[in-house]
Amino acid sequence: MVEKLCNLGVFASGTGTNFRAIAEACRRDDFPARVACLITDNPEAPALEIAKSLEIPAYVVPVTAKKGRLPAEAEEEMADICVGHNVDLIVLAGFMRILKTALLDIFENRIMNIHPSLLPSFKGLHAARQALEYGVKITGCTVHFVDRSIDGGAIILQTPVPIEDDDTEDSLLERIHPEEHRTYIRAVRLFAEGRLHPEGRRVKINEHGSKTT
Ligand code: GAR
Repeated sequence: MVEKLCNLGVFASGTGTNFRAIAEACRRDDFPARVACLITDNPEAPALEIAKSLEIPAYVVPVTAKKGRLPAEAEEEMADICVGHNVDLIVLAGFMRILKTALLDIFENRIMNIHPSLLPSFKGLHAARQALEYGVKITGCTVHFVDRSIDGGAIILQTPVPIEDDDTEDSLLERIHPEEHRTYIRAVRLFAEGRLHPEGRRVKINEHGSKTT
């Protein structure tokens, strides 16, 4: 058993496979984190069903603003929920809106995102499609800290995925997804064990050290 668990606030707009993978990892005795709450902007998100089945408190903060935008009031409401649950780390898991205000101020260097490409290549939407269209031979996934840029925060972990000649967007995503799950779980563990040390754009990883933060 781990003494003090890191409280996660997971944000998901859609299917929630990353959310499920992290929530399941959290159920293991040796995992140093727990999911304190799920927050979604989408009342129809399948992630809500996952939260229900795992008995994780879930909150819908419906957002009618244009795709990608998150109005300041909604962001404040989400921040209040996280503070109320003593969240230590916010985990964006397919959350398709851009944070700008309250959350970034309160949770500086405590918000992570997963993106389905090797950043800084193929930022934004449809990253796997962009990689195929560009013709790269290797893509992958990136976990990074979230800052005021879009998909531009300091990189924590990356995992490569080779592109095959006959790949479609779906077949490629099918291979990226399991790598995302593994990479995200590892990044959350490293954070929870105090092993991530952001220094400007570089995040140093103390792979074997004891908890220092
Ligand atoms: C994941 O592939 C994640 O990398 C992507 O959304 C998917 C969510 O899947 N996020 C982005 O593209 C963010 N720019 P999931 O709902 O099954 O976890």
